[in-house]
Amino acid sequence: MPTQAQAPTPGEANTVAVSDAPAVSAVRSATDADMDAVAAIYAHYVLYGTGTFETAPPSAEEMGRRRGEVLARGLPYLVAEASDGAVLGYAYATAYRPRAAYANTVENSVYVHRDMVGRGIGRALLRAVIGACEARGFRQMVAVVGDSANLASVRLHEALGFRQIGTLRSVGRKHGRWLDTVLLQRPLGDADTTPPAQE
Ligand SMILES: CC(C)(COP(=O)(O)OP(=O)(O)OC[C@H]1O[C@@H](n2cnc3c(N)ncnc32)[C@H](O)[C@@H]1OP(=O)(O)O)[C@@H](O)C(=O)NCCC(=O)NCCS
Repeated sequence: MPTQAQAPTPGEANTVAVSDAPAVSAVRSATDADMDAVAAIYAHYVLYGTGTFETAPPSAEEMGRRRGEVLARGLPYLVAEASDGAVLGYAYATAYRPRAAYANTVENSVYVHRDMVGRGIGRALLRAVIGACEARGFRQMVAVVGDSANLASVRLHEALGFRQIGTLRSVGRKHGRWLDTVLLQRPLGDADTTPPAQE
C-alpha cells in the first residue's frame, strides 16, 4: 500500500501502490469484474470493524448478487479506481425500506480499502452516489452508521450535507461490545418542496 511500505497480503494484489499521486483516478460504475476486490475490501470491515453489523464476510458471488439488486432498482453501484485500475473503495445506494411510500428515499453505503482511508476516496465516492441519486430523482438519503465511535463515517457524511437525526443505543453487539447506530439524513434535489416525478 501507499507510502507505508507494507507488503500486500497474498490475495490482495488488486490494491494500489501510489505515493504522493492523487489516490482516485476515477469513480465509475462497478462491473462484475470488480466484485472480488469489493468483497475483499468489505471482508476486512465485516471481520474487524464495527461500521457494518454483518459478521460473516459475503463471497464475491454474493456481493455480485447484491449489486444486481441495486441495479435492478435503478440505483448506483460505484467504485473508485486508481490510475492502474485497482479498486480503492466502493459505494452504492439501496432502497431505504421496501414499502411503496418509501420509494423516494434511499440508503447509502461506502467502504474504502483499509490501507487507503483518509485520502479523499470516501468523499469522492459518497459525492458521486449523492449526485447519481439526485439525477435519478430520489429525494432523501439516509445513512445508518454502525457504531457511534465511527467518527470517520459520521464526519464524512456531515461534510457532505448529512445531518445527524439520532442515535439508537446498543442495538448491535459485535466483538464483545454493545454498539449504537447513528442515523443521518440528507435532502436530495428538490427534496420535499415538490412532488416526485411519479406518484
Ligand atoms: C468512513 C470512510 C468511508 C471514510 O472514507 P475516507 O476515504 O477515509 O474519507 P475521506 O478521506 O474522503 O474524508 C472525507 C471527510 O470525512 C471526514 N473524516 C474522514 N476520516 C475521518 C476521521 N478518521 N476522523 C474524523 N473525520 C474524518 C473528514 O471531514 C474528511 O474531510 P477532510 O479530509 O477535509 O477533513 C472510511 O473510513 C471507511 O471505509 N471506513 C470503514 C467502513 C465504514 O465505516 N463505512 C461506513 C459505513 S456506514
